[in-house]
Amino acid sequence: MISTERELHALSPRATPRWAQIARRLARATRAAWRLRELRHLTRPEQSIEEIVDAVFTFSGGFFVPLQIKSEVVAFLRMVEQARPKAVIEIGTARGGTLFLLSRVAAPDATIISVDLPGGPWGGGYSYARVPFYRAFRWASQKFHFVRADSHQIRSLDRVRKLLPDGQCDLCLIDGDHSYEGAKQDFAMYGSLVRSAGLVAFHDIVKHAARYRAGVDRLWAELKLAHRHVELVEDWGQGSCGIGVVIRD
Ligand SMILES: C[S@@+](CC[C@H](N)C(=O)[O-])C[C@H]1O[C@@H](n2cnc3c(N)ncnc32)[C@H](O)[C@@H]1O
Repeated sequence: MISTERELHALSPRATPRWAQIARRLARATRAAWRLRELRHLTRPEQSIEEIVDAVFTFSGGFFVPLQIKSEVVAFLRMVEQARPKAVIEIGTARGGTLFLLSRVAAPDATIISVDLPGGPWGGGYSYARVPFYRAFRWASQKFHFVRADSHQIRSLDRVRKLLPDGQCDLCLIDGDHSYEGAKQDFAMYGSLVRSAGLVAFHDIVKHAARYRAGVDRLWAELKLAHRHVELVEDWGQGSCGIGVVIRD
């Protein structure tokens, strides 16, 4: 039972004033910036893939937390490391966890492009203020590019193509728009940039509850009939996640 105005105020969505939210975000970012060196020093083969995954999951209160299941992303990174991609596209970066992990298993001189829609569905994208954090992941001679735009715009595809050293890539991770139509469009547009024997990976191939209106599972069911593929799924009944990888002919 609410008996005082203060209790009522505490329950209202405006309970935390804007300035306090900004101050909290600033404090989180400062703490993360201060500790960033701990992550930047993690490299292969000095650390195991499991150690690197654990580190990014727990870093600074989840500042870069990957929206992934650990065992699945570990298996995926092993596969990517075998391929040592020199050009990588990630559609859907959100808090940066998978971007960091991909940088650790890509070639030391890889070009890595993040495409993400600010405020986009399924994770909210990232603000411009996060770009310097993500850029700091880069190691050796890697090059990072940030296309903060709708992946479905033809302009975004053109920008990505021009950023790739030879207009093609070795790996594309599709983890942006999770609707059937959206993921299918990403595959049609960016999958065409993946060279022969390269990888196109999809996150969230496991069936979600209907309320999420996700359709990657439906798309995956179609693609796996037509392509050489690998499925990295901890449990088909887990209700989300799961990684499917198409190997380009
Ligand atoms: C699930 S999150 C990505 C998670 C990240 N790959 C990870 O595992 O940590 C999905 C991201 O896709 C982005 N997104 C959704 N629709 C998009 C679109 N049409 N174009 C580009 N990005 C989009 C959202 O902004 C969100 O940040």
